[in-house]
Amino acid sequence: MKGWMEMQLHVTLDTRLEKVVSYIPQGAVLADIGSDHAFVPCYCIQQGLIKRAIAGEVNQGPKEAADGQVRLVGLEEEIDVRLGSGLSVLERGEADAITIAGMGGTLIATILEEGKEKLDGHERLILQPNVDAVDVRVWLLSNGYQLLSEAIVEENAKIYEVLVAEKGEEILYSEEERVRQKELRYGPQLMREKSPTFIKKWTEELHKREYILAQMRAGTDSEELKRKIQAMQAVIDEMMEVIS
Ligand SMILES: C[S@@+](CC[C@H](N)C(=O)[O-])C[C@H]1O[C@@H](n2cnc3c(N)ncnc32)[C@H](O)[C@@H]1O
Repeated sequence: MKGWMEMQLHVTLDTRLEKVVSYIPQGAVLADIGSDHAFVPCYCIQQGLIKRAIAGEVNQGPKEAADGQVRLVGLEEEIDVRLGSGLSVLERGEADAITIAGMGGTLIATILEEGKEKLDGHERLILQPNVDAVDVRVWLLSNGYQLLSEAIVEENAKIYEVLVAEKGEEILYSEEERVRQKELRYGPQLMREKSPTFIKKWTEELHKREYILAQMRAGTDSEELKRKIQAMQAVIDEMMEVIS
């Protein structure tokens, strides 16, 4: 992810956001929640991908940055910048596609849960959690969403997941509870594809946990520590199974 950003006359996106945008249906009304500089809506309009957009921001600073960016490219008619938390900035059913990118999965799931009365079921959700994608998958599954696609991309030594969902019957997950729990953590499609980026992500996570386990083993013996070591070992075993 980029850090502090300049406004752009001809907006370009990084690999992560390009992937997010690739799932927006042509001609959609887009709501980009947590829009920051409104780069996604500006890019989509400039490329002729969408009809119009709402850029939602909860914080004044990023909202002003979005206003400034939209003014700079002269898209005030097409992009409505709104201040407010999550989906509260929307009318029910107003958007055909909703992007929520560059936040933790727990926050994305909270935004969806708190704003679910704004969803009339026709929207495509395109979600890019930086961490804890499991929380987003759990929310989607418990709220009648079907995972249409999952992608994993690497940029500047960071790895990002993108989840695309629409209302519908879920068919990707296993009936078996133990397998389903694993699919929720690693992604049912990503687990099957086992792309080099997926293997890299979980190998790195595995190494982090092996390091923690070694620290734990060096600790003072206690029943609690033994339980923690056992739990960590189980996580490591599962990761090894997933990447093998
Ligand atoms: C790290 S930036 C990501 C910006 C852009 N979506 C991207 O992926 O590059 C997260 C943005 O989400 C905004 N944000 C956080 N919580 C929010 C909420 N509940 N509703 C709307 N925006 C929120 C923050 O103010 C911040 O501008």
